[in-house]
Amino acid sequence: MCGIVGYVGRSAATPVLLSGLRRLEYRGYDSAGLSIQEGKSLLSLRAVGKVARLADKVRAEWSEDRQSKCSVGIAHTRWATHGAPTEANAHPHADASGRIRLVHNGIIENYRVIRAKLEAKGHVFSSETDTEAVSRLIGEYYKGDLRKAVISALRQIEGAYGIAVISADEPGRIVVARKGSPLVIGVGEGECLVASDPSALISHTRRVIYLDDGDVALVTADSVDITDLNHAPMDRDVAELEFEAGAVEKGGYAHFMLKEIHEQPESVRNALRGRLDLLNGTAVLSGMGATARELIELQRIVMVGCGTSLHAGMVGDFAFEDLAAIQAEVQPAAEFRYRNPLVDGRDLVVAISQSGETADTLAAVREAKEKGAMVMGLVNVVGSTIAREAGRGVYLHAGPEISVASTKAFTGQVAVLLLMALKLGRGRRLSRERGLALAGEIGRLPELIEAVLKQDSAIAKVAESMAKHEHAFFLGRGPMHPVALEGALKLKEISYIHAEGYHAAELKHGPIALLTPGMPVVVLANRSSVLEKTIGNAEECKARGAHIIAIVTEDGPEVAIADEVIIIPDCDPLIATIPAVVALQLLSYHVARLRGCPIDQPRNLAKSVTVE
Ligand code: AGP
Repeated sequence: MCGIVGYVGRSAATPVLLSGLRRLEYRGYDSAGLSIQEGKSLLSLRAVGKVARLADKVRAEWSEDRQSKCSVGIAHTRWATHGAPTEANAHPHADASGRIRLVHNGIIENYRVIRAKLEAKGHVFSSETDTEAVSRLIGEYYKGDLRKAVISALRQIEGAYGIAVISADEPGRIVVARKGSPLVIGVGEGECLVASDPSALISHTRRVIYLDDGDVALVTADSVDITDLNHAPMDRDVAELEFEAGAVEKGGYAHFMLKEIHEQPESVRNALRGRLDLLNGTAVLSGMGATARELIELQRIVMVGCGTSLHAGMVGDFAFEDLAAIQAEVQPAAEFRYRNPLVDGRDLVVAISQSGETADTLAAVREAKEKGAMVMGLVNVVGSTIAREAGRGVYLHAGPEISVASTKAFTGQVAVLLLMALKLGRGRRLSRERGLALAGEIGRLPELIEAVLKQDSAIAKVAESMAKHEHAFFLGRGPMHPVALEGALKLKEISYIHAEGYHAAELKHGPIALLTPGMPVVVLANRSSVLEKTIGNAEECKARGAHIIAIVTEDGPEVAIADEVIIIPDCDPLIATIPAVVALQLLSYHVARLRGCPIDQPRNLAKSVTVE
């Protein structure tokens, strides 16, 4: 996804902008650019490719001395949505005079109408982007007050935007605005920064202001003045960023993904901290904001999410029905938002999202609220849009997840869903004894994960056979079916192997036709009531020459047909979803490493999909 950084202060803006863009590189992008104020004019540079290429251009064209005199600027990394990744399409974009520059995240849905009107007035566009329609429209309205001009233009815009704008005629000022695409303001000492993601600010300040949809802010080195689109003053609190600057560094690991896989004992510990009641065998989730009575009267839980978060919801589906005897379902957020869903005030809709900015999941939250459902967020990024619009929920406290491939967010989501199921269950049918047993198992999760991480070298060995193949199956039953889907997604997105997750019983209804001799088939064959059936499905594959990689329970029933095994510790089959997925995360990581893939920023992918 695109990244925005802005700086206004007393230091040279360019180095701050470039280092901020580097912190946003993990989001995925294909071009970058920046504009700085130099006296009563603007300097701009743009480049296709990585931020390093933009930095090369800066070094070649702007001397250090020249940069040192420019203390205001905006910068952008672009993930192409309208128009190919070219220098002409890279941000910042200008107005007709060239004296205003703008960077933008989001999609302007009515940009064609605006562009046609401006072209009819003589504008000659230099890019294929929707963004240039905004920068030119602002220029049309500019009569000496940048914020006014921005507001006049935004009142004509339909769609999502996070923007930062500077003018040659208004030194020392940045105007920022957001609707549907996150923007945060960092408040420092004698300087302010703006960014689409707090990780770009953390090395300068931990004091931040999260803008809400409809906010417009005039930012100077010493002030932040926020209004709405009617110029009415808006009061926003200053929050403290929770994570450390180092948290966005690799910490000695080869990739952010490996670091985040190994952080999971701690991240799951953080997700559980203060929330497990080991005296009464229940969970304490004050963020749910619901009384015991409201929870008991719930008729259904509907989980919505995308990708890995959707898979976490699928595990939650089993947990809620099994532990809490409540009807549960999980829907892709993109489906929920358009299907006129049958939800009402007796339903709880849980929006699951690491970033808290996924457009489809955010739209599902808004649809659920329209229908009067109780809504809560299960989110990692504090202060994110989904977290704030849901109004209540439970944070994962997993820390920043930098790698595009989601790992610790998934285990954090499943851990919190287990807590919710335990809490609801104890309020409905679970006995104290059963609750105590489950709470104890959930409390063991960090050590269960540690046990899998200790097998890293054994798993790397298994990866050697898999890395030579271009196709793979992942099979599971019950709550291990979503784990199979998640394992396949991990392998797909970072190693580019075509991997499919299937319910183990489903393979023989067609997909088994794809099996070829030696093809790797990963089977979730942990101890469970359906283990024999799962082994039977694996035997169907073995009979056709498949290479069986079995995830098995330590000291559990033997899976004689396995060619290779990965052992996970013995625990409740529902709880086992977390150690099992950690094994598959490591497996996909090593396969991708052996295949020489980029891993943290896979081709075509973005960390947070803030467009439909
Ligand atoms: C996971 O590995 C993917 N990168 C992707 O499927 C991700 O889970 C999905 O885009 C949802 O993101 P969210 O959790 O931030 O909403």
